Amino acid sequence: MNSDLTTIRTVADLRRAVARARGPAGDRTVGLVPTMGALHEGHLSLIRRARDESDVVVMSLFVNPTQFGPGEDLERYPREEARDAELAGAAGVDILFAPDPETVYPAGFATTVRVAGLDERLCAVERGADHFDGVATVVTKLLNMVGPDAAYFGQKDAQQAAVVARLVRDLDIPVRIVVCPIVREDDGLAMSSRNVYLDPEDRARAVGLSRALEAAVTAAGSGERDPRTVGALARRELASWAIDPEYVELVSPDTLEPVDDLDRRVLVAVAARVGGTRLIDNVILDPSSRRDELNPEEARRAG
Ligand code: PAJ
Repeated sequence: MNSDLTTIRTVADLRRAVARARGPAGDRTVGLVPTMGALHEGHLSLIRRARDESDVVVMSLFVNPTQFGPGEDLERYPREEARDAELAGAAGVDILFAPDPETVYPAGFATTVRVAGLDERLCAVERGADHFDGVATVVTKLLNMVGPDAAYFGQKDAQQAAVVARLVRDLDIPVRIVVCPIVREDDGLAMSSRNVYLDPEDRARAVGLSRALEAAVTAAGSGERDPRTVGALARRELASWAIDPEYVELVSPDTLEPVDDLDRRVLVAVAARVGGTRLIDNVILDPSSRRDELNPEEARRAG
């Protein structure tokens, strides 16, 4: 769509470009899609949603060092900016913001945004609270730099989506947070920039995560009301794929607190290492719709 997309590196240039794109009356709406690049269909689905709903689409591409722990994959995280720019332009991005680390974190940077509680559960047990503090801080900065009307995130990172929704509410940031459904490979594996790390054997085994979530959906759909039983069935499925999970948890999608029953919306979240690669996936069990599907949007479209 936009093949001569220019890449912006500084906050001043970004603000100028966004102000110009908002038009003389300043009444054109802006959608922001924050990413770390290595774009796949998951990212592109966010861009398309932003494109549908906004006059101007801004995508940020920044591999945020503060959300990587020691020993994590910051150095080897896939970086393919030219390819990303092409895909982003084709999917409808108008403004690509790809700052250097020194632009985002200049000398003397000292502030951290911390969403207490939400940064201690699920993935934080393994990755540490610092991971979500890094996410919360960079997302706050990106929202302040761009000033979008709406910002788009994936349900794939359910804990991140909860953290972002909470910080926006707590800090009165005037933006609508839109959470988009998980995009999957044909066999069910949730798309992720980290899937490229999987060797063929691990790639085949990685489908165990979505199969475990399917087992949870099937159990809830056939009337099981005990979260512990549903969790145990998901764990059994993982074991059949020789996957030893970091966690399988049934929690509130907003507070991430464990639930005692399934009479409300419940997030089933799983994380596991397959080979050396850490994978996450999740599904929402929703008793009001009784359409617990791995991809609720698709289920809705199918009627
Ligand atoms: P990144 O991993 O690049 O993901 C960017 C956005 O794409 C996130 O909102 C993520 O949830 C979404 N996404 C990833 N895989 C998806 C899939 N299979 N289906 C739907 N959406 C998917 O998440 C980050 O970057 C960073 O933490 C960031 C928010 C940019 C802050 O640095």
